[in-house]
Amino acid sequence: MTALCGNVCLSALGCLSCLFVAVLSGLSSSVDNNIVSLDGKWSLSNSNGSLSLSAEVPGCVHSALFKQGFIQDPYFRFNDLSYRWIAFDNWTYTTTFSVMHPLRTKQKVVLVFDGVDTVASIWLNGVSVGRTDNMFRRYDFTVRDSLKDGDNVLRVCLQSAVVYASERSKVHSAYRVPPECPPDVQKGLCHVNFIRKEQSSFSWDWGPAFPTMGLWKSVRVEAFDVVQLLHVSSVPLYNSSLSEWRLQVDLVVDAVQTTRVQISVSVPELDSERDVHTQFLCGQTTHTVVLHINKSSEVKLWWPHTHGQQPFYQLSVSVSQDKLLILNSRSKVYFRTVELVQEPVVHSPGLSFYFRINGKPIFLKGSNWIPAHAFQDQISPAVLRNLLQSAVDANMNALRVWGGGVYEQDLFYSICDEVGIMVWQDMMFACATYPTDDDFIHTVREEVVQQVQRLKSHPSIIIWSGNNENEAALATNWFNIPAAEKPLYARDYVTLYVDNIREVVRAEDQSRPFIVSSPTNGVESEQEGWLSENPYDPHYGDTHFYNYVSDCWDWRTFPRTRLASEYGFQSWPSFSTLQPVSTEEDWSYSSHFVSHRQHHESGNEQMLEQAALHFNLPNSTDPLTAFTHTLYITQVMQAQCVKTQTEFYRRSRTEIIEGKGHTMGALYWQLNDIWQAPSWSSIEFGGKWKMLHYFAQTFFAAVLPVAFEDADTLLIYAVSDLSHDLKLRAVVSVYSWSRLQPVCTLKSDPLLVPGGGAVAIFKQPVAALLAGCGHCTRFTCVLTFHLEDSSSGAQQGPTNHHFLSSPKDAEGLQRPNITVKVQQNAAGISVTLLSACVAPFVWLDVGKVPGRFSSNGFLMVSTNMTLTFDAWRPTSAEELSTHTHTHAIPSTERLLQDVQNKHPVIDVISIK
Ligand SMILES: *[C@@H]1O[C@H](CO)[C@@H](O)[C@H](O)[C@H]1NC(C)=O
Ligand SMILES: *[C@@H]1O[C@H](CO)[C@@H](O)[C@H](O)[C@H]1NC(C)=O
Ligand SMILES: *[C@@H]1O[C@H](CO)[C@@H](O)[C@H](O)[C@H]1NC(C)=O
Ligand SMILES: *[C@@H]1O[C@H](CO)[C@@H](O)[C@H](O)[C@H]1NC(C)=O
Ligand SMILES: *[C@@H]1O[C@H](CO)[C@@H](O)[C@H](O)[C@H]1NC(C)=O
Ligand SMILES: *[C@@H]1O[C@H](CO)[C@@H](O)[C@H](O)[C@H]1NC(C)=O
Ligand SMILES: *[C@@H]1O[C@H](CO)[C@@H](O)[C@H](O)[C@H]1NC(C)=O
Repeated sequence: MTALCGNVCLSALGCLSCLFVAVLSGLSSSVDNNIVSLDGKWSLSNSNGSLSLSAEVPGCVHSALFKQGFIQDPYFRFNDLSYRWIAFDNWTYTTTFSVMHPLRTKQKVVLVFDGVDTVASIWLNGVSVGRTDNMFRRYDFTVRDSLKDGDNVLRVCLQSAVVYASERSKVHSAYRVPPECPPDVQKGLCHVNFIRKEQSSFSWDWGPAFPTMGLWKSVRVEAFDVVQLLHVSSVPLYNSSLSEWRLQVDLVVDAVQTTRVQISVSVPELDSERDVHTQFLCGQTTHTVVLHINKSSEVKLWWPHTHGQQPFYQLSVSVSQDKLLILNSRSKVYFRTVELVQEPVVHSPGLSFYFRINGKPIFLKGSNWIPAHAFQDQISPAVLRNLLQSAVDANMNALRVWGGGVYEQDLFYSICDEVGIMVWQDMMFACATYPTDDDFIHTVREEVVQQVQRLKSHPSIIIWSGNNENEAALATNWFNIPAAEKPLYARDYVTLYVDNIREVVRAEDQSRPFIVSSPTNGVESEQEGWLSENPYDPHYGDTHFYNYVSDCWDWRTFPRTRLASEYGFQSWPSFSTLQPVSTEEDWSYSSHFVSHRQHHESGNEQMLEQAALHFNLPNSTDPLTAFTHTLYITQVMQAQCVKTQTEFYRRSRTEIIEGKGHTMGALYWQLNDIWQAPSWSSIEFGGKWKMLHYFAQTFFAAVLPVAFEDADTLLIYAVSDLSHDLKLRAVVSVYSWSRLQPVCTLKSDPLLVPGGGAVAIFKQPVAALLAGCGHCTRFTCVLTFHLEDSSSGAQQGPTNHHFLSSPKDAEGLQRPNITVKVQQNAAGISVTLLSACVAPFVWLDVGKVPGRFSSNGFLMVSTNMTLTFDAWRPTSAEELSTHTHTHAIPSTERLLQDVQNKHPVIDVISIK
């Protein structure tokens, strides 16, 4: 049976005539039409038939082999290399289904694949029905004539994506399409740019090469007599001169024959409805109805998180034929406007680059999103919700869906709509040149049409962006393209992203901005023929910035950009995350495992070098202690570096210094992880917050005090994202490392802090400040500070701190003696810390118990502190403390650690 499929698959190559291309279905529900889901158990076999097993659809080969016990956890140790053979084989999915006779009598029967990963030929009862070559497209095949009563056999013959990509690159012999292969350190596979598939599945600098194959989305049979609704989308458009909303509703339908219909569109809550008489021509067509919103002035707007609510309305769409209802659908509609403002800036060459939502300039605070798992079928709704809620809990309002992953599933965007996360949506092209052969362009156009139609109703998406770093790659010649050949690559670049992708997006969606690349100089890039000489120019557009060598505590290192869409530092995940995928011999910073998991050249060394600028590196003679302390110190380094950089961007919001500034966004790289490995993420694989994520909660607070030094003068800025003005003063407390009472406290004069402003509220030479404060020196003291309302005295925003010297040079920093009490009460679990002295970067780690503390990684300057633990599954005070005690790492070593690597003394007491 398997061999037969193999032969038949081969003979079918080149059969494109039976391939029907269709758009995505979304919220549609059809009256009287039959849908047979083919999701569930299929059978799966490899090309020579040596493996045969059952496999879940949606799913992939790796997941099936793992679940059926044919392989171990692919993430365990070096299994990414051990299981590489899976990606070089061809695999066949087979299912048998029966259709009832009435279904076969319908006028049209369509076999729908919401997503095939990736290169496949599809056979129904031995007859070829079509082929696929793009993971990001939905495919429809008309199959009525191939169906029979009783059992029908459906076979999907998947060809190795790795072999396919390599073959495509060989065929494209006229000129190189670089990069050929990823750097060796990534242990990856070559030519991923030749296949329309998740680009990071062939490896990335934070992820493994697992080139999946499978049916990664649903499969079904749809049958109908007259017309099928494939997709409904709605895009609100605002006319500001009339103060009027219109709603553009698009219906994509498939009609069996020309049909006269009446389309009714309504938003009842806004007293708006419209009926249109039209006809559906035979085949797939799109029909647009523009609904004027009757109560425009009453429309409640969707706002980003912390700027307002996320209200929605119900949109009803129905289609009747001779007064008989034949189709209807209900969906959510949200109203908001978005503008990308690129206009001259006073005292600054270049152009601004910021977003206005509903007319209000909004500072983008957030991070970059990568695929949450190498195997998409293993990303549960709960995992998605947890990650997005963690973003919200860290006061983020934006995420960039990065172009080397996937267009995320519908639920991702629905959650973003609900919680007010703005999405910067890349098209899936990253860090490469791409071919522009006709068939490649054709499949990309279909992909983009379908994805924009699927996603454009989501208010969370505020921008489409053509690719990740491909303008920069050409402009700054990453791939050593000879100057004489550059015009050829420039032409291909414009062909793909401008003449095709941009054109398709603009035809489908006029309601949001489109930029060709990130980073880009925006309209300046356009004027330079879409490839700027320097796409990283801080006077235009967005920038990506990485520098692991310079001291990250020095803000002068960072470019004062208009919008920072990528920047970051690596760290290691915690021991409890690594433990399940490693064994004892791996638990050393110099182990083979530790270098294997590091996919960024010299990454492990860079982390320690950066950390060593300010901290004594762990040097315990006990190997396990040394290892866990090292994991910890990388997280401390990362958190502090990204804090410094993000605070620099936030305080640059309203300033122009030396012609640069007006920074209006800080999206650090990266939010989440794809596996258990070192990376730039602030959340570990599995959801555990790194220290950086706790820091983000503070540095993204709506009102934030930021301190920095300029020529030995301490400045404190008050940064506000609020809409209203505040009258604030800064309160600065100076602590000696050796005691818990402040040595002195200073208050600034009250100052008006405008909504959306960043102003200097405190300024004093450090020497003068310390001279007036007991016996403090830079080495013996540390500062904390906060903002308070000048009339009520109430604190506004979090308390922040500023180191006057590196902790490694601190004098009087004592071995912390912190007692931890875990208590359970009606409100949940609380943790009380008692300390006898000032302690920096105090870190609580509860091992594998899922959840997060209200705060962590903090500077402890009080005798006691009470935190709450938000458990993500039922737990108890006993479990929390017991777990910590029984963890493989002695809790006294693990739970709290001081940066001088003295052994802290910790007691964990559980109190009921
Ligand atoms: C069949 O394929 C598997 C996986 O590629 C391979 O390990 C095995 O040696 C092959 N068996 C035969 C008989 O060729
Ligand atoms: C996989 O299929 C391709 C083409 O369909 C064929 O050339 C190749 O030999 C097959 N690989 C294996 C391992 O059977
Ligand atoms: C807004 O309405 C006015 C008056 O009908 C019209 O002239 C203008 O083109 C409209 N603007 C937009 C952006 O549609
Ligand atoms: C607008 O509201 C008025 C008054 O309620 C109603 O008569 C009219 O039909 C509405 N128009 C639309 C387009 O819904
Ligand atoms: C570890 O480092 C600390 C601080 O630099 C130092 O005082 C101590 O002697 C070192 N211990 C070992 C075993 O090297
Ligand atoms: C640590 O603090 C506790 C009280 O919080 C005290 O009883 C104990 O003696 C201290 N231990 C050390 C080594 O200072
Ligand atoms: C906790 O701190 C508060 C104020 O800082 C103090 O009044 C109280 O005595 C402290 N409690 C303990 C147990 O040290």
